Amino acid sequence: MDTETPRKIPPPPRKPLPPPPGGVVQPAVPAADPTPAPEPKSPIHIHLRDLHKSFGPKHVLNGLNLEVPRGESVVIIGGSGTGKSVMLKCILGILVPDQGSILVDDKETVGQSARAREAMLRHFGMLFQGAALFDSLSVWQNVAFGLIQGRKMRRDEAKDIAFTKLAQVGLGPEVGELSPAELSGGMQKRVGLARAIAADPDVIFFDEPTTGLDPIMADVINDLIVKCVKEIGATAVSITHDMASARKIADKIAMIYKGEIIWEGPADEVDNSGNDHVQQFINGSAEGPIQMEVLKP
Ligand SMILES: Nc1ncnc2c1ncn2[C@@H]1O[C@H](COP(=O)(O)OP(=O)(O)OP(=O)(O)O)[C@@H](O)[C@H]1O
Ligand SMILES: [Mg+2]
Repeated sequence: MDTETPRKIPPPPRKPLPPPPGGVVQPAVPAADPTPAPEPKSPIHIHLRDLHKSFGPKHVLNGLNLEVPRGESVVIIGGSGTGKSVMLKCILGILVPDQGSILVDDKETVGQSARAREAMLRHFGMLFQGAALFDSLSVWQNVAFGLIQGRKMRRDEAKDIAFTKLAQVGLGPEVGELSPAELSGGMQKRVGLARAIAADPDVIFFDEPTTGLDPIMADVINDLIVKCVKEIGATAVSITHDMASARKIADKIAMIYKGEIIWEGPADEVDNSGNDHVQQFINGSAEGPIQMEVLKP
C-alpha cells in the first residue's frame, strides 16, 4: 500500500466493529439510505372501466373497458363516430364521463382536482391530428413550448432539448428556425412528434398520426413512432383508421364499435380475430355487420 499518499479517514462505523483480523482495516458500514424505495408501479398503466358518456340523447360511450399495459403500444381502431376521440378526451380530462372510472397508475382521475390533473398531464405527450402547431412560433419554439410554459425551463436549455428532439425525428437544425407554414405535412407531423416526446413523457397519445400522408411518409412516421416510443420507454395509445399503421406500431389492438371495445388482442392476431366486425373493418368492406350511418340522397 502506498503509505505516502494522504488518505481520507473513513467515517466512524455506527457500531463498534470487532478487531480487524490480521490487522486489515475493515470498510466503514455505509449509512442506511434514508430515501424510501419507490412504490412498485402497476403493470396496467391506464385502466378504463365501464365508461359511459352521452351528449343529450346520444349515447357515445356505452360501458367501455380497456387496459393499457405499461410500456406497451395499444392501438384503437374503429369507424368514424364510434367514440374514439371522446374516449381520448375523457382520459385527458377534456370531457368528463357520466359514469365509470379512469385509473392512471392505479389512481382515479375522474373527479380529480385541477392541480392533480395538471401534474398528471405533465407526464403525457400528445400528437394531435393535423399536428396542431402554433403558426406564430418557430419550429423549435413549438417543440420547446411545453418545456418553457409548463415546466418553466430556461429558454436556452429548452432550445437545446428541442433541437435534440428534432434530430431524433430526422429534422436538421435548419428546420428549427423555420415557421410551421414553411413545412410539408409530413414534416409538420414530425415536428408534432418531436413536441410530443420533448418532455420524455410516460404516456404518449397519437390521434390519427398518419392521416393525410402518402403511404411512404406514413411509413416513415410509423417507424419514428416505434423508435421514439422504444427510446423513451413510454406507454403509447394511438387512434387510427390506418391498418398498415396499426399493424406496425401496435403491440395490442382494440376495436371500438358503438362506444364499446368489442375485440382486443395481440396485433398479430387481428387477422384471425374470429370477429365479423373486425374482419369487415380490416378488409374495408361495405358488406358486413357494420352499417355506416349515411344519409341517403
Ligand atoms: N362535444 C360534443 N358534443 C356533442 N356531441 C359530440 C361531442 N363530441 C363528440 N360528439 C359526438 O360523439 C360521437 C363520437 O365522436 P368521436 O369524435 O368520438 O368519433 P370518432 O370515433 O373519433 O370518429 P372519427 O374517426 O370520425 O374521428 C359523434 O357522433 C359526435 O358527433
Ligand atoms: Mg376522432
